[in-house]
Amino acid sequence: MKILIINGPNLNLLGKREPDIYGSQTFEDFFEILKNKFPKVHLEYYQSNIEGEIINKLHEVGFSYDGIVLNAGAYTHTSIAISDAISAIKTPVVEVHISNVHVREEYRHHSFLSKNCAGIIIGFGLQSYSLAITHFAEKIS
Ligand code: DQA
Repeated sequence: MKILIINGPNLNLLGKREPDIYGSQTFEDFFEILKNKFPKVHLEYYQSNIEGEIINKLHEVGFSYDGIVLNAGAYTHTSIAISDAISAIKTPVVEVHISNVHVREEYRHHSFLSKNCAGIIIGFGLQSYSLAITHFAEKIS
């Protein structure tokens, strides 16, 4: 099983960025833990701050991988283009957020992506990613 995690803008700063909201662990360190937790899953990680690069990556893996875990960061709330890319591909996408966006600013309450995603996992810290991978790993098709 091949799963790609895509992190969008500013998520390269996890560990340093607003630790009260996003925690103090880097994603690189967390990714090592994730790989150990799911030894049977082929896990890959990609991060970009650029909308078009995220779309290109969705196109690249979206017809061959088994699952995509996407935290599009602030593009979640703005990007019709990423939303269109999710509906254009075959691989199911699970939308994740580290923070509970629904208790934050109102502009974070709406996602352009959710309606095209297989599911949404919000507000469990970095564990949100682990829950999304569990969905793919334990999926009954
Ligand atoms: C986020 C929530 C977004 O509103 C924000 O812009 C992010 C991170 C989260 O994981 O909680 O960059 O996607």
